[in-house]
Amino acid sequence: MDNRRIGLFDSGLGGLTVMKELMELLPDESIVYFGDTGRIPYGSKSVETVIKYTKSDIKFLQTFEPKTIIAACGTASAIALPQLEGQYNIPVIGVLGAAARAAVKATRNGRVGVIGTAGTVRSDAYRRVMEQTEPEIQTVSVACPLFVPLVENGFAEKEAAYLIAKEYLEPIKTSGADTLILGCTHYPLLKKVISEIMGDQVTLINPGFAAAKEIKEELIAKDMLATQTPEDQYRFYVSDDPGEFTHLGSIFLEKSINGMIGRVDIEQYTEALAL
Ligand code: DGL
Repeated sequence: MDNRRIGLFDSGLGGLTVMKELMELLPDESIVYFGDTGRIPYGSKSVETVIKYTKSDIKFLQTFEPKTIIAACGTASAIALPQLEGQYNIPVIGVLGAAARAAVKATRNGRVGVIGTAGTVRSDAYRRVMEQTEPEIQTVSVACPLFVPLVENGFAEKEAAYLIAKEYLEPIKTSGADTLILGCTHYPLLKKVISEIMGDQVTLINPGFAAAKEIKEELIAKDMLATQTPEDQYRFYVSDDPGEFTHLGSIFLEKSINGMIGRVDIEQYTEALAL
């Protein structure tokens, strides 16, 4: 039994797709979420910047003394976490590993598509992790930079999303991949459009779901599930004005998060680390 919180961070509110999976699979866990809304996007930033941001996000979450920290952000998972391995005294886990393992398990023809931000695709991290378990795996990766703004601006199910997705997904369709990793926090919200284009025979991997499943198994195996939930079971922090986050966050989570959000000066943590 371990009643400490789980810490979760993302570049913004997209990580709430991961939080939602955790809330459903682990209803007794207390979670503190940090969305770096003041510094989003991470997906188009340099490796050094993403590492710097990730370190300060982790430093902030450490103040809650969590039992584990999860990088919900696909870009931070792909670019920063491999560089930070072994630097913390609690597990700091990304969504990437779980999604890669789920894709290797799901594919029948050994061809897997990966979509993500420019940074995630450039890192080639999904291919490397999948090849560790299945050296023969073939991957085709496509950066989809317009997907995040489409979701954030409420276009996830509009014709514009369909047209853009059709262009982006063409090389993956042509490759014959039977499995597609939705390698960015926001992409599960485009699932309807993506599955319509890819067809029923292609399995879509949601990294948030894959990670939540693995974390649950891990907590059970280590006898670290929470047994008590405090009144403030869910806490949210952002690095910019909480207004928009409160509104969109309640829609993402299908639950009102009014009054549960605080604002944090994340630069203070960057400076404390002398980054
Ligand atoms: N959260 C980011 C990711 O999953 C998408 C938004 C951004 O570019 O920061 O890669």
